Amino acid sequence: MRLLVTGGAGFIGANFVHQTVSTRPDVEVTVLDALTYAGNRQSLASVEDRITFVHGNVADEPLVDDLVSRSDAVVHFAAESHNDNSLADPEPFLRTNVMGTFSLLQAVRSHGVRYHHISTDEVYGDLELDDPTRFTETTPYNPSSPYSASKASSDLFVRAWVRSFGIAATISNCSNNYGPYQHVEKFIPRQITNLIDGVRPRLYGEGRNVRDWIHVEDHNRAVWDVMDRGKSGETYLIGADGETDNRTVIAALLEIFGRKPDDFDFVTDRPGHDLRYAIDSTRLQQELGWTPQYRDFRSGLEATVEWYRDNEQWWRPQKAGVETQYSASEKVV
Ligand code: NAD
Ligand code: DAU
Repeated sequence: MRLLVTGGAGFIGANFVHQTVSTRPDVEVTVLDALTYAGNRQSLASVEDRITFVHGNVADEPLVDDLVSRSDAVVHFAAESHNDNSLADPEPFLRTNVMGTFSLLQAVRSHGVRYHHISTDEVYGDLELDDPTRFTETTPYNPSSPYSASKASSDLFVRAWVRSFGIAATISNCSNNYGPYQHVEKFIPRQITNLIDGVRPRLYGEGRNVRDWIHVEDHNRAVWDVMDRGKSGETYLIGADGETDNRTVIAALLEIFGRKPDDFDFVTDRPGHDLRYAIDSTRLQQELGWTPQYRDFRSGLEATVEWYRDNEQWWRPQKAGVETQYSASEKVV
């Protein structure tokens, strides 16, 4: 199989390429990545001789058309992915997440190529802390931020291309990922690298917000299950019952680093901050037989801390710039 992976130099995409190269020797991987601030060629260094890397933009229609015409399937990870950035400057989110998806949809339509669309649970908005329901495949879309609105929009374009043009496509909406190669702008790597630097972790608002954490390898195994056995036109929710509030994540990290439980700062909250995400992955488990392998968040977190300790040369070049950007909007309260 000739597989085009967009965004393969990013966090989840790079982990997906590693997993694919090591478990599926029959798959020829081509990565298309614009190497934005979030893309890092080093994340693919150990598999560089096993893949083809194309430096380019998913919104570049002639390039995408050419690459898709030479592929049997596409997995589309490339996106502007950070909520805080989307609040500061939404425009790149429309360009990449909406127009980039459009360009891929047009190409898979004209070449009859199988398409898998990577999306997020954030398209469903948020839940109250005491709401007994969780997101399912039929939950109505209700995005809150420019990022989640752009992802919701791209999902709806996929659905429209399935219905109106008959493309062979699936969508997966996953909860918050953690693991190696995640950019230091994101919550868990930001706090781990702060702690390595002896800086106090920073918690938005009151830290009550809940995220449904899943290890990136479990996410990517589910993506392959959907690619292999998912029904065209369908959506699959991916989550590993990992609901944890942000304060608890910080407490676990402080303990891992041997720091005092109150050794962190509350900072200004994110505008429009979604309170809680929670995924019901029954369909994925029952129809496709997927189960998570990382069931213990604490040990997954410890392994992730080790990875950042061992790979400082990977994250160090981004750290100071990210913190300077945060300090422009963030105040200790
Ligand atoms: P990331 O920001 O780490 O990586 C994004 C990658 O896309 C980078 O390599 C970047 O260079 C590339 N890219 C950005 N714009 C591009 C463009 N115009 N053309 C080509 N490449 C471009 O993101 P991530 O966290 O790995 O997320 C990957 C996908 O998974 C996204 O679609 C995101 O919405 C989705 N998702 C992420 C999470 C999560 O917890 N991180 C959860 C669910 C879904
Ligand atoms: O739910 C899936 C989504 O998860 C993905 O679609 C996004 O691409 C991904 O970035 C992630 O979005 P979040 O906004 O949930 O992730 P983030 O890592 O930015 O923040 C996680 C939580 O931690 C959130 O409640 C905000 C909070 N936070 C974040 C940072 C960076 C803090 O309290 N302090 C921080 O310094």
